Amino acid sequence: MAGRAQDVQTLVQRMARRYQRTNASLGDSLRELLRSAPTAQTPLRGVGNAASLPLDSDSRLPLIRAEQLGPSVPLVLTPSVRAVLEQLRDEHRNTDRLARQGLTPSRTGLFTGPPGVGKTLAARWLADELKLPLLVLDLSSVMSSYLGRTGSNIRKVLDYAKSSPSVLLLDELDTVAKRRDDMAEVGELKRLVTVLLQEIDDWPASSLLLAATNHADLLDPAVWRRFDLAVKFPLPGPVELEEALLHYCGNEALRNTAFLVRILKGSSFADAERFVMTARRKAALSNEHTFDILLSMGQERMTQMNHAERLQVALDLVQDGSLSQRGASELTGVSRDTIRRKQRADQEQHA
Ligand SMILES: Nc1ncnc2c1ncn2[C@@H]1O[C@H](COP(=O)(O)OP(=O)(O)OP(=O)(O)O)[C@@H](O)[C@H]1O
Ligand SMILES: [Mg+2]
Repeated sequence: MAGRAQDVQTLVQRMARRYQRTNASLGDSLRELLRSAPTAQTPLRGVGNAASLPLDSDSRLPLIRAEQLGPSVPLVLTPSVRAVLEQLRDEHRNTDRLARQGLTPSRTGLFTGPPGVGKTLAARWLADELKLPLLVLDLSSVMSSYLGRTGSNIRKVLDYAKSSPSVLLLDELDTVAKRRDDMAEVGELKRLVTVLLQEIDDWPASSLLLAATNHADLLDPAVWRRFDLAVKFPLPGPVELEEALLHYCGNEALRNTAFLVRILKGSSFADAERFVMTARRKAALSNEHTFDILLSMGQERMTQMNHAERLQVALDLVQDGSLSQRGASELTGVSRDTIRRKQRADQEQHA
């Protein structure tokens, strides 16, 4: 059950045999299931199998990472980005319905956005949802090798991904555009870009080609236009940050997310996760509560916040009983008097 298809198949086989006499129709359905299940011979099992990955012709190292299917990290998204990804998933799940209208699913997608906002994670999510292997080609590492070989390496990977249904992620796409240092290589680079653009144009609908970059501005408009779909991943807003923080905090009751959301405003998901995990690790090795460590770590961040923002943090912490007025004042550097006055003003406004 933990991703071991072979074990499950053996179990189902045994059940089918057992039910053959007592419940023939159930036995038949089970056997039918087994017939349609992937076997060692189906291409789906071949893709992502470490033994068959395309290799660099010199180093003999695999050119791509094949990510295993499995429980994915919960992906938190703004509603508009989620809608686009779900549409993409639904198109690939319903190719027959599209075909009846003479349509094909979107074959290629370009993910742009700052680091740590879920571009790679979204590719992983799509592969999981579609039950396809995820193949990741990190262009920044392929590009570091001799360019002439880069072209043939990239072609090998693309052919491999096209040969059977999969999700191929071209990560760090901008490195192709960025490498302009050596003039002697410009011709080679142009050929490489041409290869890529051609592949994007001709990509088959059976596999999904995704590309991710956090330097969208470096990409040629011609590259943008090539993709069926362009998805902009923004930095998380307060709502998304709060949702993600609840995941990162695990079982530890989080007394005050409002405080953390304010402290981490403008951070990526990855930054927020690192912040919380650091606190949890510190807490695990000390006798302090995670929340108290988060408070003292937050104090450092407050040096970059203006007075009004720090006042809001203080009010959050006083209002939910996390800190006394004095404690909040010490933490935020806002005077007790100011906190008290603002609190009274808020209460009066409420009344
Ligand atoms: N939308 C999100 N929801 C929940 N967690 C996220 C999200 N985005 C990022 N994270 C956390 O940050 C980590 C890094 O995210 P990911 O690799 O997807 O970022 P990225 O956008 O691909 O960044 P880069 O441009 O640096 O490659 C994830 O493993 C996850 O823990
Ligand atoms: Mg990434």
